[in-house]
Amino acid sequence: MKHLLKMLDLSTEEIIEILDLADQLKYELNHGIPHPRLKGKTLGMIFQKASTRTRVSFETGMYQLGGYPLFLSSNDLQIGRGEPVQDTARVLSRYLSGIMIRTFEQSEVEALAEYGSIPIINGLTDFCHPCQVLADLMTIREFKGSFDGLKMCFIGDGNNMANSLIVGCLKVGMAVSVACPDDYQPPKEILDFASQYDCFEITNSPEQAAKNADVVITDVWASMGQEGEAEKRKKAFAGYQVNDNIMSLANDDAMVLHCLPAHREEEITEKVFEAHAKEIFEEAENRLHAQKAVMVKLMA
Ligand code: CP
Ligand code: NVA
Repeated sequence: MKHLLKMLDLSTEEIIEILDLADQLKYELNHGIPHPRLKGKTLGMIFQKASTRTRVSFETGMYQLGGYPLFLSSNDLQIGRGEPVQDTARVLSRYLSGIMIRTFEQSEVEALAEYGSIPIINGLTDFCHPCQVLADLMTIREFKGSFDGLKMCFIGDGNNMANSLIVGCLKVGMAVSVACPDDYQPPKEILDFASQYDCFEITNSPEQAAKNADVVITDVWASMGQEGEAEKRKKAFAGYQVNDNIMSLANDDAMVLHCLPAHREEEITEKVFEAHAKEIFEEAENRLHAQKAVMVKLMA
């Protein structure tokens, strides 16, 4: 494993290794055991979109590992004034030990990896959000004990979260059921991958998808960069809310995850959100541990 660009690139074994290391690093942190595994290393963090969790968890995680994080806003970098990513990659490779980037186009992240000579970590693109889904898998395993026999249901937009969840959950052996409006399905590349699995289902009925689910997941209807479509999307997604009716169709002990930020009374009701706050905020915490594991795997 040289980079973390998308879940499609990871083998099942690599995913499980990251989750095992994340569990261990969480244990060490909670027991006051120092773990300076990236002493002397530097991580550049390029943000072309807003972030609370990703920025703070990478920055804190790097500090806990004994390394040094640099926050690089694209407003201040020359990349924001048009310097090509190919050149940025070759320059930053000479200063840093690794780069985390949050941007729009997946091709930009892939280009950084192609032209640079240091590990690249995808901190969210329009196509995928692998760091979030590693934390989600960690949280599912933490609450359920294993992935065996579990069904994950995603309700909403076929967006970056849906894409990474479909791939990640199928790779660890879960059944996956996705409910999206017809015009908002995940891209062909993801559906082609998923179609190899008998335990994958895509429907436009949230009720159908939620049946006997062990994990119910949703995300915002308008992602970063789609603010101008928010009103149109509110109409298209009106029936795609995680609410009491959906939860009554899932298994009694079903957990609910949300990558956050959440829009209450849009994709999820306040009631369901608060009833499952325990899982949702553990999921947010696990970003820290999962990303530390990724950084150690790639940069130690
Ligand atoms: N879930 C997530 O990536 O959150 P941020 O946008 O706050 O980083
Ligand atoms: N789908 C959301 C996820 C935010 C973490 C977005 O891209 O804005």
